[in-house]
Amino acid sequence: MAISTRVTELLNVQYPILQAPMGWIARSQLASAVSNAGGLGIIETSSGELDNVKDEIAKMATLTKNPFGVNIAQAFVRDPNIVDFVVDQGVKFVTTSAGDPTKYTDALKSAGLTVFHVVPTLAAAKKAVEAGVDGLVVEGGEGGGFKNPRDVASMVLLPLVCSEVTVPVIAAGGIVDGPSMAAAFALGAEGVQMGTRMVAALESPVHDNWKQAIVEGAETDTVFLNRFSRPGLRALRTERTTRLEHEDNVSMAEFGRVADLYFGGDLEAAIALVGQVIGRINSVESVGQILESTMDGFYETIERLGKFTR
Ligand SMILES: Cc1cc2nc3c(=O)[nH]c(=O)nc-3n(C[C@H](O)[C@H](O)[C@H](O)COP(=O)(O)O)c2cc1C
Repeated sequence: MAISTRVTELLNVQYPILQAPMGWIARSQLASAVSNAGGLGIIETSSGELDNVKDEIAKMATLTKNPFGVNIAQAFVRDPNIVDFVVDQGVKFVTTSAGDPTKYTDALKSAGLTVFHVVPTLAAAKKAVEAGVDGLVVEGGEGGGFKNPRDVASMVLLPLVCSEVTVPVIAAGGIVDGPSMAAAFALGAEGVQMGTRMVAALESPVHDNWKQAIVEGAETDTVFLNRFSRPGLRALRTERTTRLEHEDNVSMAEFGRVADLYFGGDLEAAIALVGQVIGRINSVESVGQILESTMDGFYETIERLGKFTR
């Protein structure tokens, strides 16, 4: 079976499955594996390490012949030349997130790029559509990473946004397999983005301790930090984040020893961003296995649902 949606058409990919941009993680090793497996790998900029990111984008050309994208995480990359930077690298697809969609959309689109903006609410979705984006990544509050403090679960947010906009929608938050992908499509999405699932992929560069914490974690093992201030974030429950959960304003300084967590495996060294979907991830698998089993499960699910009609 083959799948065709506006997302596969616009992004020129076999499967409408994107790997989420994630600081330090979404680099060429992981992103090229996703693009080679038929999905869309995305390179991050939220680490702010633009020189390294440039090298990573250059490596993509040698590691895959398939399309890939770049994320501009606006709150983290304030470099006024970020649009030129992305255009100069020959990138064709960009997601913009954590910021105002009116800021870069015109410039990116004038340079011929396809632009999707990440939104956590209906109001943000309407604003992005008005700004002229080609599509939206609709991000439910169950997902990992930076979040709107007034978080809305995908089950409510996705059908709400999809009923009010005509641009194609990629669902993010809680997507891990075929049934969750099919559910997102039932709610109006034409593509999905996986974050936490990809942190635990074989090709993900993070330390095995983080992957094992995802495999062992229950659906209740995340915390929401900064419920009453910004930035809100969803992360793995550890001693450190359990303490921070009760603080009024968790500053970015708490991300202090990122390298010790990401690559040294010390889960208490910083904040490990993960979503509630850790409760549904039971093994470390290769990107190829994840994408194949997701597509198989997607087709099985829509076939099973078809049997309810007569
Ligand atoms: C470790 C981690 C880092 C993330 N960093 C970014 C980022 O730099 N830019 C962004 O737009 N989203 C970021 N996100 C959010 C993801 O793009 C994605 O929307 C989210 O993980 C989807 O939910 P899931 O974790 O349930 O799959 C991050 C998520 C995680 C888990």
